[in-house]
Amino acid sequence: MAQFSESADVPDMGRRQFMNLLTFGTVTGVALGALYPVVKYFIPPVSGAAGGGATAKDELGNDVSVSKFLENRNTGDRNLVQGLKGDPTYIVVDSKEAIKDYGINAICTHLGCVVPWNVAENKFKCPCHGSQYDETGKVVRGPAPLSLPLAHTKVNDDKIVLTPWTETDFRTGDAPWWS
Ligand code: FES
Repeated sequence: MAQFSESADVPDMGRRQFMNLLTFGTVTGVALGALYPVVKYFIPPVSGAAGGGATAKDELGNDVSVSKFLENRNTGDRNLVQGLKGDPTYIVVDSKEAIKDYGINAICTHLGCVVPWNVAENKFKCPCHGSQYDETGKVVRGPAPLSLPLAHTKVNDDKIVLTPWTETDFRTGDAPWWS
């Protein structure tokens, strides 16, 4: 798992952490991105899904192929893509053949660090100030005040399409605070 240096420069940590996570893999430790020209990540193409949605992109800004995405992953894995508005978003592996129908925005609701998935503890743990979220992104420990935002996911032509989540948050039973 990627390690992060401590810094008081918290607001600037988010983008860098995201890059680290994408580059070195999340919890799987798969360093697939280590050889990629990560600078390209900062100039991704604009996504083109209809209806206010976005097609999930990889660290190079290319559309994520679901079949390839699932090839070397296991049920329960959570891996980052670029989601709505380019936000780092976890796609959840539901089975060898499918992803969950929701994605989890990885930006901590405290001060915006990108929150890594901790497979050993089955939760998301923010390295900046210790906030924790359960496996669905529901906040279980502060200082983060809110759960991680959700997005709908569906597969269309082997691509992952994310659309805004405007319905009740199934984790809390409340209206979504982010929409
Ligand atoms: Fe402070 Fe995540 S940014 S706990």
